[in-house]
Amino acid sequence: MLKGRHLLSPQDLSPEEIIALLDKADELKQKLRRGEPHEVLHGKTLGMIFAKPSTRTRVSFEAAMTQLGGHAIYLGTGDLQLGRGETIADTARTLSRYVDAVMARLFKHEDVVELARNSSVPVINGLTELLHPCQTLADLQTIREKKGGLEGLKLAWVGDGNNVCNSLLLACTLVGMNISVACPKGYEPNAEIVEQAQKNAKRSGVKLEILNDPKKAVKGADVIYTDVFVSMGHEAERERRMKDFKGYQVNAGLLKHAKEDVIFMHCLPAHRGEEVTAEVIDGPHSVVFDQAENRLHSQKAILCVVM
Ligand code: CP
Ligand code: NVA
Repeated sequence: MLKGRHLLSPQDLSPEEIIALLDKADELKQKLRRGEPHEVLHGKTLGMIFAKPSTRTRVSFEAAMTQLGGHAIYLGTGDLQLGRGETIADTARTLSRYVDAVMARLFKHEDVVELARNSSVPVINGLTELLHPCQTLADLQTIREKKGGLEGLKLAWVGDGNNVCNSLLLACTLVGMNISVACPKGYEPNAEIVEQAQKNAKRSGVKLEILNDPKKAVKGADVIYTDVFVSMGHEAERERRMKDFKGYQVNAGLLKHAKEDVIFMHCLPAHRGEEVTAEVIDGPHSVVFDQAENRLHSQKAILCVVM
């Protein structure tokens, strides 16, 4: 049972719990399509702490709460006393007295862990430098919709071994998907995450590779996934990163090395001409806006089960 639990990492979930969440997300998507009311969180409030900008996470969580009959409060860290030095622990203890769950987008992963440790209501990670679990659930929902299943598929990650990549490494290996990552030297995913994902892969019998060659990584791939070369908080490294990521763009030439029916995914926001060409992201293989839509449905599933 996920009721009352925090969701900070895909690893907080068992493979069965992930599949149950995806089933719930599909069910809620159908209900919305059919116009069936599903206001199961009537009277409930979600507090949403944001230390970084957001389009998808903010709007999808807020719309999710509205559709579920509850309410969401946007809390920018600059508007909270947190911005003036109140501790994370005191913020968590206080918010727990008012709201039924907290969603937080913070810089350091330790900060969201600290928030959860001091919160008596569920805390949902809305992105840290280390992980982005809500994105990953929407990604799996999208892959399952497009491919009819998850087990045995191959996802290729091309680019920065960042928070989105780390989350996919854990989730893919939990649900039985093979994953190949191609990144420049020095931009590999987090070593502890890779170690955990290797353990998952052993248990589920899938292959996990960390490579430097995008062509090798996408060979036989069902899904190609990329993200920006410069994540939030790394803006000062832009110039160096643009040089280091030369050769890691997802373009039509690279797609030719994958399966013919490969789908292209990106968590968005995207920078056309950098990590992906306009031809690919706006082309027939791209599913990026279905993926963005599924943030809404999968987060509604998360909210329903934790509250
Ligand atoms: N993919 C994602 O989390 O987008 P936002 O930064 O717009 O929330
Ligand atoms: N890796 C990106 C994801 C944005 C949704 C970042 O952290 O900025």
